[in-house]
Amino acid sequence: RIAYVNGRYVPHAYAQVHVEDRGYQFSDGVYEVCEVHDGHLVDETRHMARLGRSLKELRIREPMSAKALGHVLRETVRRNRVRNGLVYLQVTRGVAKRDHPFPKDDVPPAVVVTARAIDPKKSAKSAENGISVITVPENRWDRVDIKSVSLLPNVLARQAAEDAGASEAWFVDTDGYVTEGSATNAWIVDQDGRLITRPAEFGILRGITRTVVVDLAAREGVEIVERPFTVEEARKAREAFVTSATKLVMPVVKIDDAVIGNGKPGSIAGKLRELFYTQAE
Ligand code: PDD
Repeated sequence: RIAYVNGRYVPHAYAQVHVEDRGYQFSDGVYEVCEVHDGHLVDETRHMARLGRSLKELRIREPMSAKALGHVLRETVRRNRVRNGLVYLQVTRGVAKRDHPFPKDDVPPAVVVTARAIDPKKSAKSAENGISVITVPENRWDRVDIKSVSLLPNVLARQAAEDAGASEAWFVDTDGYVTEGSATNAWIVDQDGRLITRPAEFGILRGITRTVVVDLAAREGVEIVERPFTVEEARKAREAFVTSATKLVMPVVKIDDAVIGNGKPGSIAGKLRELFYTQAE
């Protein structure tokens, strides 16, 4: 395997960053995960746009143009011979003597790109059965709209899910509303067949997969309501599912101890999963 590190393609086993990288010390950086489907980077333009926004919000300099970065992503995919899988891109504020404020000198941002293959059959298998999710209290900061590498609450939530034999954890705010998953956006289908997902203005990450599914649902004439929903509603929903670049549209069949619908993946989730690539770019 090959990784891209600050301008060089190096063997993955020797790909390293400096001990004083601010990403390592302060989680002072952002990232993107892009799906690779049949050798193609899915929704590259949108991922690059979101990266640009994350960088801007944190006042980290753009390391290179979106076009150049796109080239690095595709080259990393090519060098690793990935046809189906994902590419990971991380940009941190760079290397400087440990001190909380931004470095005074014009430090170049540090860029890392890795790619790996994922067997599409594995994901298809979980989609056939559906996954279980648990709920955990929302305990993140209020800038989760930034795709920062500061993911400790997400890591702890996801581990809690693993410990409970589930695949994902949904964060729930103090009013009982689901915000999103540890690494996915959350959706339900109500008893009238309406698709419900939280607005992405704040409080969640605006998932690229979420945007594609919103457009796809509209195209297919599925009524969609962007509003917060509670755990109680979700437990009584006809269907539930999560979306992300790695899970695409993944049906949820259990939330904590509540079986969703008839305990099998729902038809709307199935349809959206099946048609996903007709809408994605
Ligand atoms: N996670 N919400 C959170 C907190 C996420 O971390 C992610 C993506 C999403 C879905 O976004 P998208 O559809 O653009 O992948 C929502 C990536 C896959 C990860 O951390 O691995």
